[in-house]
Amino acid sequence: MDMRLNMTSSIKEKINQLRSVIRHHDRKYYVENTPAITDYEYDLLVKELQQLEQAHPELITPDSPTQRVGGEPLSQFATINHKIPMLSIDNTYSGEELREFDQRIKRMADIDKQQDVEYVVELKIDGIAITIWYENGLFTRGATRGDGFKGDDVTANLKTIHQIPLTLESAGKGQHVPTVLEIRGEIYLPNKEFQRLNEERVESGEPQFANPRNAAAGSLKLLDPRITAKRHLHIFTYAIGHYEGIELQTHTQCLDVLRGLGLPVNTHTQSCKSIEEVIQHCNTWDERRDELDYLVDGMVIKVNSLALHNQLGATSKSPRWVISYKFQPEQAITKIEEIVVQVGKTGVITPVANLTPVLLAGTTVSRATLHNFDEIARKDIRVGDHVVLQKAGEIIPQVVSVVKEKRDGTEDVFKEPTACPECNSDLARIGVYLRCNNPLCLAQTKRRIKYFASRDAMDVEGLGPALIEQLVDKGFLKDYADIYHLKYDDLVGLERMGEKSSASLIQAIEESKKRDLDHLISALGINNVGTHTAEVLANHFGDLDTLANATQEALERIHEIGPVVAGCIVEFFQDKHNRVVVEKLKSSGINTQKLAVPTVAKNPHISGKSFVITGVLQKYPRKEAEILIKGLGGRVLSSVSKKTDYLVVGESPGSKADKARELNVTILDEEAFEKMIRMI
Ligand code: IVH
Repeated sequence: MDMRLNMTSSIKEKINQLRSVIRHHDRKYYVENTPAITDYEYDLLVKELQQLEQAHPELITPDSPTQRVGGEPLSQFATINHKIPMLSIDNTYSGEELREFDQRIKRMADIDKQQDVEYVVELKIDGIAITIWYENGLFTRGATRGDGFKGDDVTANLKTIHQIPLTLESAGKGQHVPTVLEIRGEIYLPNKEFQRLNEERVESGEPQFANPRNAAAGSLKLLDPRITAKRHLHIFTYAIGHYEGIELQTHTQCLDVLRGLGLPVNTHTQSCKSIEEVIQHCNTWDERRDELDYLVDGMVIKVNSLALHNQLGATSKSPRWVISYKFQPEQAITKIEEIVVQVGKTGVITPVANLTPVLLAGTTVSRATLHNFDEIARKDIRVGDHVVLQKAGEIIPQVVSVVKEKRDGTEDVFKEPTACPECNSDLARIGVYLRCNNPLCLAQTKRRIKYFASRDAMDVEGLGPALIEQLVDKGFLKDYADIYHLKYDDLVGLERMGEKSSASLIQAIEESKKRDLDHLISALGINNVGTHTAEVLANHFGDLDTLANATQEALERIHEIGPVVAGCIVEFFQDKHNRVVVEKLKSSGINTQKLAVPTVAKNPHISGKSFVITGVLQKYPRKEAEILIKGLGGRVLSSVSKKTDYLVVGESPGSKADKARELNVTILDEEAFEKMIRMI
């Protein structure tokens, strides 16, 4: 062997050794929660491996711990057909229903009524179901549940989750790695990570996620794995789908295999000898679920014997050997310290209760929305009252009812405001809502500016809510157009603003002037005009002035714009104050034209027609195809209906193609689509 070969093979050995040590510590840290080295020591190992791989890129393998975060964002997810359908689970809500489930099983499997069936009871993690395939011990692909038969290929995002090993290594004890193993589990976001993520989003002006489940789903469905990696998703694995090269008799064995191979299995799993034990275990967790740092919405009860699974089979919806026991939505009782009123960006006044902080469904709650003043009167909510709170999918919980027995006479009836709490202007009543009609109201100004700078609107990086508060209070911002007159000297010296952050904000403000017209329209904060309507308007009018001069009739003629929205747009541009602000925006050099669309003549085959795209297009990534269609005067919709004119079909199309055939919608393959866009 010559010297060079010798050296390469020893480097290869070193690399393999490092990977194995890192994997060992990943398992200790991420799966077993028993770190054996410090973060610093771990980072040194990873750095050493990175350096060796950088010097010898030919030795990089996809399962190397350095390869968790992929490079470029995807243009869309491919579809994966599930070899075994991912069915759902039937629900029960009481011990009695669980006993019926037990009896049904005995009846169907011909088991004596007196004999007990063995069950495994697991926590029902409130997250997103996924499937992961390992072939010869290598993580090859992973997908979401989707419709149960096919889901999205989210391999790149799943690879960013450190708890999921990229290669399976047995923990010894005679266990070997299966040749093929499909595991099933739940991706979730721990409560702490959820809270951290939402705090970051408030700071950067992005909308908050309603609950940890939505946050996990949103993070798993991002096309850029680099962002997913920052979300710190977690997983519990709870079942094996397809497998080859191992023998399994019970569900307990399945969980042992998963645990042995280094996959996270929830530690609160319990074997129960009878349905009565199951019920007891469910009741215990109904009371203890607050102790967990992730959300569970019930328990899952599984028959332990796999032979019995086969015997029982499944309905079209769910297997007969499993059932869930759902908890009631979590409630908490706390005291209303005060009721304050908030002014929204359109002037609507909302009452909000400040509460004695209380733990509810994983987060500490100190505020609850009271919706409107009629609601306060209807529920007879008073300051000082103890109230029952409940989360129903929103971040801000709702007051369900007042605990009247706890009243001691010191409670105060809340008086509806007669003037705006911020600017003292008179309030107008619109239905159940009160509204401040003063366009110069400071509270509204702040709300409007915060929205203007947010991601969905002009996306001014670094101009978050806290800074906007300061800038308005100090008089630097009187309306959102003032953003474009801010100077470095105005910023530097403000709270949390150093030289560097001030300079980058000035640059970000300059950068935001180039945003496309739909962002600008959305940023104006016109009542009832969100991002989608803004896009429709931008496509239709092409520049801000034409939109500003459009009549009610012209607006109503646009597909998707109704009389109410049209009225709001006309009202906005007729308002004297708004006109001044819009002029100020224009004179700051902001873009007011539709960008991105080449000035081609409208294509008569495409103009006015609606398109849906499905599958992977080779020549035009999805976004590009959409821009092309829109640029030629067409509309792009997300689902096929009778109104769809064309379905453009790429590789591995989903159910949309079937739907299109059913509805007689013309289907274009990529070649036909290309021909069509070239015909003018
Ligand atoms: S077993 C066919 N076990 O609950 C049974 N599911 O409402 C396969 N879930 O789609 C699933 N925790 O996403 C199972 N310990 C657990 C679970 C669990 C959460 C989810 C899963 C499933 C949904 C049904």
